[in-house]
Amino acid sequence: MAEHGKGPHLHEPAGTLFAQIAWLRVAQVFGPGANSLARFSLVGSLVGLALLFGALELYVRSPYVTAAGQPVDQPVPFSHKHHVTDDGIDCRYCHTTVETSSFAGMPSTQTCMNCHSQIWAQSPTLDPVRQSFLTGQAIRWNRVNNVAGFVYFDHSIHVQKGVGCSSCHGRIDQMPLTYKAQSFQMSFCLDCHQNPAHSIRPQSEVFNMAWQPPANQDELGRQLVQAYHVQSKISCSTCHR
Ligand code: HEC
Ligand code: HEC
Ligand code: HEC
Ligand code: HEC
Ligand code: HEC
Repeated sequence: MAEHGKGPHLHEPAGTLFAQIAWLRVAQVFGPGANSLARFSLVGSLVGLALLFGALELYVRSPYVTAAGQPVDQPVPFSHKHHVTDDGIDCRYCHTTVETSSFAGMPSTQTCMNCHSQIWAQSPTLDPVRQSFLTGQAIRWNRVNNVAGFVYFDHSIHVQKGVGCSSCHGRIDQMPLTYKAQSFQMSFCLDCHQNPAHSIRPQSEVFNMAWQPPANQDELGRQLVQAYHVQSKISCSTCHR
């Protein structure tokens, strides 16, 4: 292959140093010595590389890798389906700070014992709960939902502006073991922030897991956006501060 500056037909193109270097590199690769087959295979392998990266990108974002939909192992097999749907306990009984703080809050062992000092008081399944109560060591629940440390998230503003738990967590009330419904990639957040009218609901429905948008959602949404003074927050510093 023609070497830098020595190629028989290579003449120096005018222009900036950067353009010259770029030109030299192109000339090196596609110089007079390169036949069309070589050109073809080079272009082919570039396309191949692009496809490979595309596939990798899809793989990294797929539910398989982000583990959306798969239950997380817990020290006690806690069921939202039993406690929320069968026993009718409100989310706020256990996640007490979800309306007032960025963190939804996790129930203390005392909260469990309000009932389980009587109900299923001998059950081996609840051994870790009784142990925790006796020793004063909190149960270590494994995290289900997670956003990276460089993302700022706040529950209270979403609750106040009519974004329901189910919009982000799915049908928690039907989960025997808790899994994440969303992998919380940036596009998921931005889709709603760009057009909140499409997704917000009356504040009274925020904790209603079965709520479905009505046929006239876009009209209702526009009214709620006005009533709740909802803004479209898409600047980077909203979430990356
Ligand atoms: C009786 C207490 C209780 C009630 C009521 C309850 N939860 Fe939970 N919730 C828990 C416990 C305990 C965990 C941790 C174990 C687990 O992940 O299943 C949890 C975990 C979660 C998680 C996952 C937390 C994480 O690690 O990301 C979400 C989301 C959640 N609850 C939402 C809700 C919603 C929505 C409601 C109301 C429909 C609700 N919970 C009602 C006790 C409760
Ligand atoms: C308001 C009462 C109440 C509270 C608070 C409560 N539970 Fe329960 N729990 C029940 C009842 C009632 C059952 C019986 C299950 C059913 O509905 O069949 C039960 C059943 C269970 C079971 C076994 C049955 C199953 O498979 O779900 C586990 C494990 C359990 N609870 C864990 C917890 C933990 C952990 C907490 C605290 C985060 C907690 N519970 C808080 C009422 C409560
Ligand atoms: C706009 C999306 C969104 C809505 C709406 C939402 N959550 Fe979350 N939730 C998240 C994200 C994201 C996380 C993970 C936060 C983190 O990694 O810091 C989370 C985490 C949690 C956790 C784990 C503890 C914590 O705060 O990190 C619980 C419990 C929870 N959510 C309950 C609820 C309940 C109950 C509601 C409804 C009142 C609700 N969430 C509404 C997105 C949402
Ligand atoms: C279904 C709709 C919806 C989704 C999904 C959603 N948001 Fe929001 N978010 C809102 C609305 C509505 C507001 C309130 C905007 C306003 O009027 O200030 C808001 C406000 C916020 C605020 C507070 C802005 C401020 O200036 O105080 C932050 C931070 C935020 N969202 C982060 C996130 C992140 C991170 C995600 C993804 C994990 C997310 N949101 C997903 C609807 C959504
Ligand atoms: C509504 C919230 C929100 C806004 C607004 C937002 N981001 Fe993000 N961003 C996220 C979330 C959520 C992630 C994913 C974090 C994770 O993987 O856990 C993310 C991830 C990223 C990443 C890491 C690469 C990736 O895609 O995972 C970069 C870079 C980034 N954001 C840049 C930006 C820039 C630049 C802007 C402004 C144009 C912006 N973000 C606006 C929520 C937001």
